[in-house]
Amino acid sequence: MKKKVTIIGAGNVGASVAQLVAQAGLADVVIFDIVEGLATGKALDISEACPLWGSSSRVNGTGAYVDTAGSDIVVITAGLPRKPGMSRDDLLSANADILKGVTESVVKVSPEAMLIVVTNPMDAMSFLAWKVSGLEHRKVMGMGGVLDSARLRTFVAWEAGVSPADVETLVLGGHGDQMVPLPDYTTVKGVPITKLFTWDMINALIERTRNGGAEIVSHLKTGSAYYAPAASIFEMLKSIILDEKRMLPTAAYLSGEYGVEGVYAGVPAVLGRGGVEKIMEIKLAEAEKEGFERSVSAVRELIKKMGINNQDD
Ligand code: LAC
Repeated sequence: MKKKVTIIGAGNVGASVAQLVAQAGLADVVIFDIVEGLATGKALDISEACPLWGSSSRVNGTGAYVDTAGSDIVVITAGLPRKPGMSRDDLLSANADILKGVTESVVKVSPEAMLIVVTNPMDAMSFLAWKVSGLEHRKVMGMGGVLDSARLRTFVAWEAGVSPADVETLVLGGHGDQMVPLPDYTTVKGVPITKLFTWDMINALIERTRNGGAEIVSHLKTGSAYYAPAASIFEMLKSIILDEKRMLPTAAYLSGEYGVEGVYAGVPAVLGRGGVEKIMEIKLAEAEKEGFERSVSAVRELIKKMGINNQDD
């Protein structure tokens, strides 16, 4: 039997992930949205593309949580997107209410599911989803680092004039303005960019990556990025469903790794059938360590503002 993936939110991110999963035949998909007809219409449209893709995924749309029952993985994209000039953190209180309600409803009918949180501010929302769900923390994770890394890979590839397939990188910390791209671990076919580019150039690429989401919002004006976010979610889903054990930068619960406890932040994680199966502790330079701690503090601040206790219990 195919796995069942539910996607909460039939907006641009949700619908694009649904398409990627169905097109690859990776799982059956349920798209959920509270806007009447939206999920049903998009699911029908994707279903009718399946014969052309040679896919046997079943895709259903719904506005009733009961139809999401028994999901293996639930991707939560519901929430307000940014408007020009807003930071991801500005969405905190509105999206916290949405996320809490969604998580409660989801776990009621899918108590065994894993959750991938996409709603911003994503690290704080992942923490909230973990708390509210009562699930083991290896089963609740957030998508941010794969996207931030894909953006940096793109910019490095353009600068080096090579295929992005030959560029690898890691962006750690929170998926916010304080994210921590790691130049020492950013390579073109194994060659660190510190050996290829000047520091001025590296800093410019990092800055563009930090502002990658806002840059797109400033062009679109009425929404935020969705093709690359959807592709990032798909990569995580695939690693879990096919038990690929890819090492992907993931917002995961830290219980002492990197000297941090009781918070979600982006770290290199091995994703497989068990969810977050392992957190890889890599050696960080002094400045990177400081950057990581600053970024974690920013996430802690958001958690504090939501008024939930951040002790592991
Ligand atoms: C971005 C949003 C999705 O980075 O956080 O584009």
